[in-house]
Amino acid sequence: MQMSGITIGIPREIMPGEKRVAAVPETVGKMTAAGAKVLVQAGAGAGAYIDDEQYIESGAEIVGDIKEVYSRANVILKVKETQLLADTGEHEAELLPDNGVLIGFMHPANSVNHAGLKILARKNITSYTLDGIPRISRAQKMDALTAMSTVAGYKSVIFAAGHLGRFIPMMPTSFGVIKPAQFLVIGTGVAGLQAIATAKRLGAKVKTFDIRPEANEQARSLGAENIDFQVPPELAVGEGGYALRLPDEWYEREKEALLPHLEESDAVILTALIPGEVAPIIVDELMIGRMKKGSCIVDIAVDQGGNCSVTRCGEDYSFNGITVSGIMNIPATLPVDATNMFAHSAYNFLSYIIEDGELKTDSADEIVASTLVTSNGKIVHKGTLLAMGNNR
Ligand code: NAI
Repeated sequence: MQMSGITIGIPREIMPGEKRVAAVPETVGKMTAAGAKVLVQAGAGAGAYIDDEQYIESGAEIVGDIKEVYSRANVILKVKETQLLADTGEHEAELLPDNGVLIGFMHPANSVNHAGLKILARKNITSYTLDGIPRISRAQKMDALTAMSTVAGYKSVIFAAGHLGRFIPMMPTSFGVIKPAQFLVIGTGVAGLQAIATAKRLGAKVKTFDIRPEANEQARSLGAENIDFQVPPELAVGEGGYALRLPDEWYEREKEALLPHLEESDAVILTALIPGEVAPIIVDELMIGRMKKGSCIVDIAVDQGGNCSVTRCGEDYSFNGITVSGIMNIPATLPVDATNMFAHSAYNFLSYIIEDGELKTDSADEIVASTLVTSNGKIVHKGTLLAMGNNR
């Protein structure tokens, strides 16, 4: 891999509460060994407990402020989408180098990010979003979103443990045996499977629910009990094996099937997702009214609107005695491992798109096509154009 002639900038993330950073000393070492110059903003790694000295030892130069990083680099690796700088009110995208390259989570279909994308296009920045990496085997080592879902699934159970007023494992005591807590995991994709594994490790009894037969099989292989509910496969599973939005009557049937299990659950973890769409509502107010006081719901689909009708974005609160957690950006709450995984995904992606010192923007390549957001002065990301109503 040749990276000579490339200057890579690693800024400190400006999103409030974001503790991750887009490079670790190991990936900086790989980039400098390949001939790149790497500029790291002072303190960029502090949230993940990485000192400036560690970056310097890996060959990076520490740069005092974000504007200098952006003005001297031609490739920027960052975790989160560009946003307004709190101190000056400037848009971060305006500071990026004209004709440069940006790689990170850009969540481009989300309308709050459209202003930033228009700036990137105007500045002829080639940008790639890592949340677009397809779940195919050759892209696994670049799949930052799957890595972050692993974090979210794990942490959802840790949050639930914090909310519950009872033990999770079976507890033999001198007053008798206390029964293990009952967990219900709805949606058993990447995050859900990790939630099952974590809850089992803590000694919970775990029931699960998914509309894809493959997901149910994987949940069973982790020792969970599937709730029996058969959706015709042609309604549930679409192209590439991903879940489909069900016809409305099937959501009603799903709610009916779930109700008796919700009533006996201590913790409900919600992770149901339809790729590229708003998350389906699976738990509503009436259903919560039947849950036990002191139980909790952790709705990690909140970034896509949530699976529970009363989830509040970014908040934990009590809804008639049931804790409903809508904490967002969960990976930032596990910054050390989340940073390490993100940084390796970003480095692997960068290595993939550089060929003979040139960037790949070839949309015949599946990985490029699904991650490319702005190119040649235009927004080219399909989901984004759809969300904008093609109104650039
Ligand atoms: P995934 O696509 O691997 O899994 C979603 C699962 O939901 C699939 O197995 C699908 O079959 C299932 N599903 C769809 N409709 C359903 C329905 N009606 N009933 C039951 N199951 C249904 O997605 P992944 O990567 O596991 O992510 C899950 C959620 O976690 C997403 O909403 C994602 O945005 C969120 N997440 C949140 C983070 C945070 O910081 N809050 C970080 C990472 C992921």
